[in-house]
Amino acid sequence: MGSPHWKRLCLLLLAGLTSSLLLYGHYYATVESPTGRRIIASLLQPEPLVLASPGTSHQVSSRRWTPEGGSESKSFKPPAELEEPKPSRKQPSTCLRSVMARAKADPKFGEVFRFDTPVLMWDQHFTPETWERLKTRHVPYGWQGLSHTAVGSTLRLLNASANRHLFDRDTFPRGCVRCAVVGNGGILNGSRQGKAIDAHDLVFRINGAVIKGFEEDVGTKISFYGFTVNTMKNSLIAYEEYGFTQVPQGKDLRYIFIPSDIRDYVMLRSAIQGSPVLEGSDKGDKPQKYFGPEASAEKFKLLHPDFLQYLTARFLRSELLKTQYGSLYMPSTGALMLLTALHTCDQVSAYGFITANYKQFSDHYYEVEKKPLVFYANHDMMLEAALWRSLHRAGIITLYQR
Ligand SMILES: *[C@@H]1O[C@H](CO)[C@@H](O)[C@H](O)[C@H]1NC(C)=O
Ligand SMILES: *[C@@H]1O[C@H](CO)[C@@H](O)[C@H](O)[C@H]1NC(C)=O
Repeated sequence: MGSPHWKRLCLLLLAGLTSSLLLYGHYYATVESPTGRRIIASLLQPEPLVLASPGTSHQVSSRRWTPEGGSESKSFKPPAELEEPKPSRKQPSTCLRSVMARAKADPKFGEVFRFDTPVLMWDQHFTPETWERLKTRHVPYGWQGLSHTAVGSTLRLLNASANRHLFDRDTFPRGCVRCAVVGNGGILNGSRQGKAIDAHDLVFRINGAVIKGFEEDVGTKISFYGFTVNTMKNSLIAYEEYGFTQVPQGKDLRYIFIPSDIRDYVMLRSAIQGSPVLEGSDKGDKPQKYFGPEASAEKFKLLHPDFLQYLTARFLRSELLKTQYGSLYMPSTGALMLLTALHTCDQVSAYGFITANYKQFSDHYYEVEKKPLVFYANHDMMLEAALWRSLHRAGIITLYQR
């Protein structure tokens, strides 16, 4: 009692309980993963709180990322719902040595990237055809079980041209748009990478992105903040003691909603309308509290469920999908933001992401005492680590390591 570690766990648990008790009930399960590691899962919420049991050995170096999904078994067939979406849009690039050029030239990744996959979703996507297609897939890959009115009323508000792209290429006359994606990993503690991060054209940050007091290590610039309502609210509770007392705000800052739950659609609608949340588990919550008083549609981006499905099927098709908890699996917030940057920016650097020597570092850069990395059973951090390493070796990203 009184230890910050336990305080944090209790708060996370509490957040899960209050937000989703009705959905899942309250029970625990132990998941035996294919690599033999045991993970204790508390299936309290769509994004369950799951801890690695003590003494668990996670091997990064033994894991190899392959286009088949990093798995040892070549026979893995994705669930029908993870079939790939049809491409619908072309992504321009005017930059030599760009992510696109390098990916296309790479024998392995050339077969994996589909740069014409839509990244964002906006009003024009809400058609009867899209509804019919997406209602057969569960969130975050579709709209199964979601209210037509709730989804439609949100999407109809995303009618500004800014909702159709992450950024306006015309504002970067040099042509090459360089992006930094900043995860919250302990590797950044004492890294003095702040200047290098801020030197990028655009900086992505996620979840509990503490800046104050860590400027030298993580910089101050922030162009995009990526989150789900669940991870954002959990971060405000769990990392408050480290100074994450408010979601970053600013005139030029844009918010990237990951639609992992109906909560995300409902919160996004209220955020644009500047009104309290009208229904669901966040009912009565005031979006201005998170995103500031300026609430125009231009401020918000929504990732396309087809994009999330494409990323999961082609880049992060985890073995966890084959377990009985497969429907809870999704790439981490950091992974989704890094892959979003890879599909929109010309050059991408990743800071604070998991590396092979992650055990040398604390879970987050802002912890006072070293804490081991927390493994959530709905994510596959070892597969993500293998992917970042592989993309770095292929020269497609620059992964900060030390
Ligand atoms: C977007 O929709 C809102 C609300 O229906 C409307 O007031 C606004 O004029 C529309 N904006 C554009 C750019 O079409
Ligand atoms: C972060 O770095 C500082 C200075 O090097 C060190 O004192 C502190 O213990 C580190 N924090 C963690 C959690 O490792």
